[in-house]
Amino acid sequence: MSGRGKVYLVGAGPGDPELLTVKAQRLLRDCDVVVYDRLVSAAILDQVPPGVTRINAGKAPGRHTMTQGQISALLVRLARAGYQVVRLKGGDPFVFGRGSEEARELARHRVAFEVVPGITAAAGASAYAGIPLTHRGLAHGVRLVTGHRQDGAPLDLDWSCLADPAATLVIYMGLGHVEEIVRQLVAHGLSPRTPAAAIQDGTLPGQRRCLTTLGELAGTVRAAGLRPPVTLVIGRVVSLAPELDWFTGAADASAEESHG
Ligand SMILES: C[S@@+](CC[C@H](N)C(=O)[O-])C[C@H]1O[C@@H](n2cnc3c(N)ncnc32)[C@H](O)[C@@H]1O
Repeated sequence: MSGRGKVYLVGAGPGDPELLTVKAQRLLRDCDVVVYDRLVSAAILDQVPPGVTRINAGKAPGRHTMTQGQISALLVRLARAGYQVVRLKGGDPFVFGRGSEEARELARHRVAFEVVPGITAAAGASAYAGIPLTHRGLAHGVRLVTGHRQDGAPLDLDWSCLADPAATLVIYMGLGHVEEIVRQLVAHGLSPRTPAAAIQDGTLPGQRRCLTTLGELAGTVRAAGLRPPVTLVIGRVVSLAPELDWFTGAADASAEESHG
């Protein structure tokens, strides 16, 4: 323990430990406690020195280890006790990671904190799948959305805005509702022939990449039996993936290809 406590909200990136930032690595080495999420890969946790206390705040779907309120309260308590705390989150803490909620709680309790960005799944999984998020002539922008919804509620997304053939659409947590996502995008005018990809365990040795079309996306991911975490990428840029596939061969991974 070293003086006044502080919480570092640190992005761990999508899985490959070499995608940790230099700052994240240093903080993991120097902190007293790491409070980590379910999506933080084992290879990253291996970098935490044996003397550092690890607390699993991981939340599996339907099996809540700690509530969000309990996690925030724990961070406040640890900092007030004088600990240097790394709150380690998958990807980037401020992209669909609830890092901002935790930061607000820390601010409300006047606990010192810093935010250390990480590589978000959209950037990491796409790059390792050979998909550039933008490419001149194919996509002039990117939209990041969540396909998660509260129990039973319809997905609350602006479908006419998302059905844009000139932009790349990246959907986090979309696996459970992929059928509805496809139906809505097609209903709002996006061609079913639009290239689409689903990437499971992006950047990890077991990464799986399904390349297909929007119209075939739901059937392809179900047939492949993809399991979370999966990122969906929809847009013309996906057409470059076969040409830019640097990772599958390089890692000699058991990556799977489907061309729907
Ligand atoms: C709760 S969100 C957290 C996002 C995280 N904060 C980020 O910036 O990447 C979890 C979702 O991120 C995506 N995701 C995270 N890691 C991934 C990975 N290694 N491969 C593919 N998708 C991933 C999946 O869509 C997953 O359901």
